[in-house]
Amino acid sequence: GSTTINIQRNPSFSMINSDDINYFRDILDDNTVIQDEDRLSSANIDWMRKYKGSSKLLLLPKDTDEVSKILRYCNSRRLAVVPQGGNTGLVGGSVPVYDEVIVNVGLMNKIISLDKVSGILKCEAGCILQNLDSFLANECYLMPIDLGAKGSCQIGGNVSTNAGGLHFVRYGSLHGNVLGLEVVLADGTVLDMLGSLRKDNTGYDLKHLFIGSEGTLGIITKVSILTPARLSSTNLAFLACEDYSSCQELLLKAKRGLGEVLSAFEFLDTNSMDLVLDKLEGVRNPFPSSLHKFYVLIETTGTDDSYDRAKLETFLVNSMEGGLISDGVIAQDINQASSFWRIREGITEALMKAGAVYKYDLSLPVEKLYDIVVEMQLRLGSSAKVCGYGHLGDGNLHLNISTPNYDDNVFAQIEPFVYEWTAEHRGSISAEHGLGLMKADKIHYSKSTETVRLMASIKKLVDPNGIMNPYKVLPQSIYSP
Ligand code: FAD
Ligand code: MLT
Ligand code: ZN
Repeated sequence: GSTTINIQRNPSFSMINSDDINYFRDILDDNTVIQDEDRLSSANIDWMRKYKGSSKLLLLPKDTDEVSKILRYCNSRRLAVVPQGGNTGLVGGSVPVYDEVIVNVGLMNKIISLDKVSGILKCEAGCILQNLDSFLANECYLMPIDLGAKGSCQIGGNVSTNAGGLHFVRYGSLHGNVLGLEVVLADGTVLDMLGSLRKDNTGYDLKHLFIGSEGTLGIITKVSILTPARLSSTNLAFLACEDYSSCQELLLKAKRGLGEVLSAFEFLDTNSMDLVLDKLEGVRNPFPSSLHKFYVLIETTGTDDSYDRAKLETFLVNSMEGGLISDGVIAQDINQASSFWRIREGITEALMKAGAVYKYDLSLPVEKLYDIVVEMQLRLGSSAKVCGYGHLGDGNLHLNISTPNYDDNVFAQIEPFVYEWTAEHRGSISAEHGLGLMKADKIHYSKSTETVRLMASIKKLVDPNGIMNPYKVLPQSIYSP
């Protein structure tokens, strides 16, 4: 795969030299100043293998003080920096564009504390999401965020992208769940905002600037997060619908009929299902007879299994009788539940295996959300397979176009159409993945000129030399006078 970047390297950045390397060797532990070709080549390329940089240096600080020393030095030498977490980002934000120094806080993976009464967890930013959730499981808490990349993504990366995921419909955004952060700014200043209070109206709530800022304002080193109680009963239904309006109505009915126990409402279309069945080993259709037009996963989480299950069963029977679903099954055990989740969570990987993929992550009004999938398929005809899936409960469509190879003609049919369509419907061109490199110059489709200008002023104030994750999030034009 490939993506052509037509951004020039910012000439105000220095090139790394042997004095720089010696400095880092002085301040950091052995084996945490990495110049090894193999390790660098995997740190230089993103998860999709679409964006590739040419960094010569990867640094693995072990504590906040080391992060601070690294940034203070890089800032004084004007060495550009890319913060990297689990490198599972999908918009080219986590890898260098040119020769930026890669800083990964993966060694900073300690759990600091869990307040067992309030459920407030404090940890270092390099903790892997799944490890945090396993730790919390023993204490009957859970992470308020869950996503397919949980085995490799870091909480610092999740916060930096303001990731959404599968349980957003229940637990909401990280803007609500993150109670505090520790952040290191470009000049090495450590900002201690690691509060753990539910309520704190003392001045500007600066932590929110860093949630979703994709490494452009500083490096997140510690996180304090409110974790909900892990409830004893989880049920999962896999349903088939024959048209999009039924999916929509199902969502309304689920909110009303399942109410407080609803914990996920996800959907995928027939092309997505087809691709997963074709590309992933050991995945099978829960309804073997045929492909349906749409599939919906509904998860409930509550405290009383027989009550919750009966509630979901009634919901299913009513939906069947009302003609909203054409088939439906409730997972009988945890294995069947994870095989259902594998279908939904496996789409990203299946798309990767199918060849080239053009990924769009849109927020749209739910009534309009699927129209763009239909329109896109009409535009592209049989040259492409257009897949629609995502977090329907949150109005978040993942529009993915799969073709055997990257093709400029196909691309010209997709962009700018997809962005213009989204802007016309007052949607967002980045619901949960961020702008990264992919959409840095597309921000105006979702944000006004005045808003982008204020963002640029904030960036200039916090990072005057522009060393933090350059070329990402904001258009390069804001840097020219
Ligand atoms: P990276 O990819 O390493 O970095 C992402 C961005 O954050 C970069 O801009 C980087 O510079 C910055 N960054 C990373 N760590 C720090 C730090 N400590 N301080 C400052 N900046 C930092 N996203 C969703 O929202 N919902 C999903 O359901 C979802 N599912 C996914 C499923 C798969 C299979 C994959 C591959 C990705 C998925 N994603 C999803 C994308 C998502 O953004 C990431 O998985 C995750 O949030 C990124 O975490 P990471 O540690 O891998 O960060
Ligand atoms: C998902 O919901 O599966 C993730 O956001 C990844 C993707 O969009 O492919
Ligand atoms: Zn998603």
